[in-house]
Amino acid sequence: MSDTTFYVTTPIYYVNAEPHLGTAYTTIAADAIARYRRMTGHDVMFLTGLDEHGQKIAQAAEENGMEPQAWVDAVAPKFKDAWAMLGISNDDFIRTTEERHKRGVQAFWQELHDRGEIYQGSYEGWYCVPDETYWAEDDLAEGMCPQCGRAVEFVREDNWFFRLSAYQDRLLEFYDAREAEGRPFVQPETRRNEVMSFVKGGLRDLSISRTTFSWGVPLPFAPEHVTYVWIDALLNYITALGYGSDDHEKFDRFWPADYHFVGKDIIRFHCVIWPAMLMAAGIEPPQSVFAHGFLLTKGEKMSKSKGNAQTPASLVERFGVDAYRYYFLRDVQFGHDGSISLESMVQRYNGDLANDWGNLVSRLLNMTEKYLGGITPEPSSTDCETDADCTLRSLAGFLPEKYEAAMQRLDYCAALEAAWDVIKDANRYIENEAPWNLEKAGETARLETVLYNALEAVRIAALFTAPVMPNTSAEVWRRLGLGDISAVTDVVAEATWGRLPAGLTVTKGDALFPRIYEEA
Ligand code: MSP
Repeated sequence: MSDTTFYVTTPIYYVNAEPHLGTAYTTIAADAIARYRRMTGHDVMFLTGLDEHGQKIAQAAEENGMEPQAWVDAVAPKFKDAWAMLGISNDDFIRTTEERHKRGVQAFWQELHDRGEIYQGSYEGWYCVPDETYWAEDDLAEGMCPQCGRAVEFVREDNWFFRLSAYQDRLLEFYDAREAEGRPFVQPETRRNEVMSFVKGGLRDLSISRTTFSWGVPLPFAPEHVTYVWIDALLNYITALGYGSDDHEKFDRFWPADYHFVGKDIIRFHCVIWPAMLMAAGIEPPQSVFAHGFLLTKGEKMSKSKGNAQTPASLVERFGVDAYRYYFLRDVQFGHDGSISLESMVQRYNGDLANDWGNLVSRLLNMTEKYLGGITPEPSSTDCETDADCTLRSLAGFLPEKYEAAMQRLDYCAALEAAWDVIKDANRYIENEAPWNLEKAGETARLETVLYNALEAVRIAALFTAPVMPNTSAEVWRRLGLGDISAVTDVVAEATWGRLPAGLTVTKGDALFPRIYEEA
C-alpha cells in the first residue's frame, strides 16, 4: 500500500457458470478491505471482472448452442447482478472481450516480442480444459489432471513460448527481497513455502499461444495464434488501468497492486508466471498475492463440477446480505480452508447478530426514547465515572488500532472480534448499569451518562463493522441521527470517544436481525 492509494483485485471469474459461494467469497473479502481502505482515506481501486476467452468458454458456448460472444454476453449480467445483490463496491469491472483489454494484451505481446522474451516452438503434452492448464506426462495423477482429477486431452501444437525457465533465480531473489522488506509477496506463509519449493524444483518454458481454436486475443505479429487464456486473464490487472492505451493515468496511480486475492488453486499462475511476465516486460510485480482457502461443504471443496455449488441468492434471501457477508468473513479464517454449513450460519446469525449486535441497538434506542424522549444526552463528564465506564471506553479506544492491525494481516476474524469486544461489553454494561433502575431512582445525570456511553459504543462499533456489514451500519447511523457513514474517510478521527453530539433525535426501527427460529 502506498500512503495514499490502495489497489485490490479478485480473480476474474470464468463465465462457464454462474457465480457461487466460492467466487462470492473472494469478492466479499476484497470488498471489505476496499471499503475499509476508503474509510482510512485511501484512494481505492477495487477491480473484479470476467475471464471470457479460452477453450473452456468456447466449449460452454457450443454446448449451449451459442456463439461464444453471445454466450459471454448472456452470462456476464449474472455476475454483475450477483455482485450488486451482495453490495460489492468495485470501482471497475473488466471483461476480457472488451476492446480496452484486447488492446492491452496485444501491446504486452509486442513488448515481449521486441524484448526477445518469447520464441516459436511446438508443444506436445497434456491439457486440462476445465483448469486451462498444461501438464507434462509425469505431472498426471493416474492419467488424470493432478489438480481437479478430471480427464486431460493430448495437445500437439505449434505455439509461442515464454522463457519462464530463465526466471527461476530472479523469482527466488525477488521473493527473498520482498520478505526482507517485511512485505512478503506470497501470503499466507504456507503458500509462500509451496511456491518457493515449486520454483526451486525448476521451471519449464511456457506455451503462451494456442492455434487449435480461435476464441481469444490474436497475437499482433502472428494472428493465427490466440493468447493462452491464463496470460490473457492475468493481464486484466493492468489493462483495466489503461496499460497499452494512451491514457495510463490509472496505471501510474495504482500500479503495482497492493493485493491480488486468489484461491489457493491458482497461486502458480499468480505467484510464478505473473511476476515473471511482468519482469520480462519491465513492469514491477504487484506487492502481494494473498491466497485464501477453499470453502468446504461436508468436507469437500464446493464446486460446480462436484454438484455441490450453491448460489448466494438463496442464502441472502434467508439471512440478508449483511449477515451473509458477516458469516463468511467471521466463520472462515481467511487463508485457511473452512467448513461452512447452514447450522453454523444460523448459529452465528442468532448469536452474534440477533443477540449481540441487533439486540444492543434496539434496547438502547428503546431506552433512549423511553427515558430521554429520543434525544441523545450530553456526555455528563469527560472522564469516566466508574470502572465499567473505563472498560467500555478503553475497549472502544483500542478498537481502531486492533482493527487496523488485523486488517493489515487480512485477518477478518480478528478484526470482527475486536469490534465484538466492544459490542459485548456494551451489552454487559447496560445489564450491569441497569438504566431502568437509574430511572426509577431518579438518578438522571448517571442515567444520561450510561446511555450516552452505550450509544457512543454503538456509534463506534457501527464504524468498524461497516466494511463487512455496510447496510446495517448505515442504518444504525441513520437511527442515531448521524450522517452518511459511507462518507467517512477518516475512521480513526471519527472513532474518537465523545464525537456523538448531544441533541440528536434517534429513531427506533424494526429488528436489525430478526431471530431465525428453525435450526438449518
Ligand atoms: N479465471 C480464473 C482466474 C483468472 S485470474 C487472472 C479462475 N476462475 S474461476 O472462476 O474458476 O475461479 C475463481 C476463483 O474462485 C479461484 O480463485 C478459486 O479458487 C475460487 N473458488 C472456486 N471455488 C472455490 C471454493 N469452493 N472456495 C473458495 N474459493 C473457490 O480460476
